[in-house]
Amino acid sequence: MEARAPRPRGRLPNPNLTMELDVPLAALIDDPQGVLSALPNEPQRYHRDPLAFEYLLTRAGVDALIDRECLARQYLAVFKDGGRVDPRAYGTADQLMPRRGSMRQYLNDGHTVSLRGLQKLLPPIAGLCADVEQETGFQVHANAYYTPPGRSGLRYHYDPYVTLVVQLAGRKAWPVHPPLVENPVREHLSFTDIGFTDDQLRYLANTPPPLSYELEPGDVLWLPRGFVHAPHAVGDEPSLHLTLALKARTPHWLAERIVTDILDTAIRDPGMRAELAPSDLLDGTEGVVQAARDYLLGALLSMDTKQAAEGVRLAARHGTMPDVVSVTDR
Ligand SMILES: [Fe+2]
Repeated sequence: MEARAPRPRGRLPNPNLTMELDVPLAALIDDPQGVLSALPNEPQRYHRDPLAFEYLLTRAGVDALIDRECLARQYLAVFKDGGRVDPRAYGTADQLMPRRGSMRQYLNDGHTVSLRGLQKLLPPIAGLCADVEQETGFQVHANAYYTPPGRSGLRYHYDPYVTLVVQLAGRKAWPVHPPLVENPVREHLSFTDIGFTDDQLRYLANTPPPLSYELEPGDVLWLPRGFVHAPHAVGDEPSLHLTLALKARTPHWLAERIVTDILDTAIRDPGMRAELAPSDLLDGTEGVVQAARDYLLGALLSMDTKQAAEGVRLAARHGTMPDVVSVTDR
C-alpha cells in the first residue's frame, strides 16, 4: 500500500471564521494539545460559532437530501424511543434506495432519522474525519441525527468509542451517567452485545443523571467512551447534530498489530507452513505449543522497534497495518 500524500490540515473553508487553525481538533475543542497528550476522562463541553460548522451539514441540507431522495438505504437508520426500525420496513433488501417519501414520513411520525457513515458521502465531513484521523491516529466515522421536537431516538446506552457531538441546529438534552463498564470496546464488551443487567436498568430508572447538558447550535460535547447517555430533542425546533466517533487505539490493538505482522512474515517461512503430525498435534500438544511460543518470543525479541513504531504510526493513521512496512526483518 502506498503512503497517502499529507493532507492540508485544519483549514475551515468558512469565510466567517477569521481564525486559521493549524490542527483539525482545534476547530472543535479547546486545548487540543492537552487532549492529544491525555484524553479527557470526563465529558467536556465546548462552544464555537455555529457558522463555523455550516460547511459540514445544515438542516436545510439534510432536508434536501431526504426530500430529494438522495440517501441510499445504507446511509440511513431510523429510531424511535430506543428501538431501531427494521430496514425492511422501508424497502426490500435488494433495493438501493428507501421507499419514496418514507424518511419524511418517519420524521413526521416522531422518529429520529440518522444519516450514517457520512465520511463516505459528504466531502467536507470526509475531509474533517480524515484530518482528525491523521491528527489522532484514531479511526473516525461520522453519523448525523435528525430528531423532531421533543422526541428521542435512543434510550440509555453507551458507545465503545469517544463521541464528539457537534450540535448543528435546534437543541438537545444529554442526561449522562458515568460508565458502568470499564473501557468498553466493540469487539468484547459492546453495549449492543451485552446490554444492561437488571440491576443497572433499575439504577438508571431510579437515579437522576449526575451530569446533564443541553446543547445549542455551536456546542460541542466530548463524551468519553462508556458514558451512558439518552439524548432527546428539546424546544420547538427539530434537533440536528453530527457525531464524530473516535475509535480509540488501545494496548490490545497495538499488540494485535505487532502479532499480526509477525504472523504475516511467518507465513513466508516453509517451516512454519509444514504439516504438524497428528500425533504431535493431539498427543504431543504441549511440545508444539512450546515451539510456537519460542518462535513468537524469538520474533518479538528480534523485532526492530524503530521500524515497528513507524509501521504502527502508519497503521494508526490508515486503519490497517500497511504491508510495505514490517515490524520484523524481512
Ligand atoms: Fe450514543
